[in-house]
Amino acid sequence: MLSLIRIHAGYGNIEALKGLDLEVREGEIIALLGANGAGKTTTLSTISGLIPPRSGQVVFEGREISGLKPEVIVARGLIQAPEGRRIFPGLTVLENLKMGAYQRRDKKGVANDLAYVMNLFPILATRAGQSGGTLSGGEQQMLALARALMARPRLLLLDEPSLGLAPLIIRNIFDIIRQINRKQGTTILLVEQNANLALRVAHRAYILTTGVITLSGLASDLLADEAVRKAYLGG
Ligand SMILES: Nc1ncnc2c1ncn2[C@@H]1O[C@H](COP(=O)(O)OP(=O)(O)OP(=O)(O)O)[C@@H](O)[C@H]1O
Ligand SMILES: [Mg+2]
Repeated sequence: MLSLIRIHAGYGNIEALKGLDLEVREGEIIALLGANGAGKTTTLSTISGLIPPRSGQVVFEGREISGLKPEVIVARGLIQAPEGRRIFPGLTVLENLKMGAYQRRDKKGVANDLAYVMNLFPILATRAGQSGGTLSGGEQQMLALARALMARPRLLLLDEPSLGLAPLIIRNIFDIIRQINRKQGTTILLVEQNANLALRVAHRAYILTTGVITLSGLASDLLADEAVRKAYLGG
């Protein structure tokens, strides 16, 4: 579904991605793991068109998308959930959710999806008329995820959905990620520092070390691997 082929990307003199190869197949949850500064967010920005790669190719559903404008890439169904704090604080929860569907013309489908995400995150239904900025951190993270779902993603990109959240809320969000994948069939590329958690929901995983993939495989194999546990999962 998505292939990154020998991607080089960076900022000024900094080369953040140094020939990265990655493949996401339809229906998968893929975890992209790595330490701070490894290049995880840069990888997502390269896919969503925010940073054009210096060389290499991004191919989505058989067509090259590198070099296309972000809004064109969004229209193809490749949707990145913003970090939780990047919702529209001045708009209500409901308005935020509708913003997620701004490119869609199928009114009935949008109404159905609105009901679906409200059901998935009941707290958002309760807070529908409240401005986004007044939500707690965890609630904002849920709103960001729900807003991304309103765009009907074919491939959903998530950048550290667990960041800064309490364990109970993290578990809730990961349950929902699994549910979106199983019930809606949405393909997901999940960037996480919490490797233990990510490997429990993902089918396959890639480990990124300073701009290159140093390890990849079935999530279950990586979880069971002694050396991987020592290096990446805290023993
Ligand atoms: N806007 C920018 N300008 C200059 N350098 C940047 C910029 N954004 C990222 N970098 C650098 O590129 C490298 C990769 O950064 P990136 O944000 O992709 O890492 P990351 O894996 O997402 O890290 P984290 O886990 O901390 O979010 C880092 O060395 C970082 O300092
Ligand atoms: Mg990052």
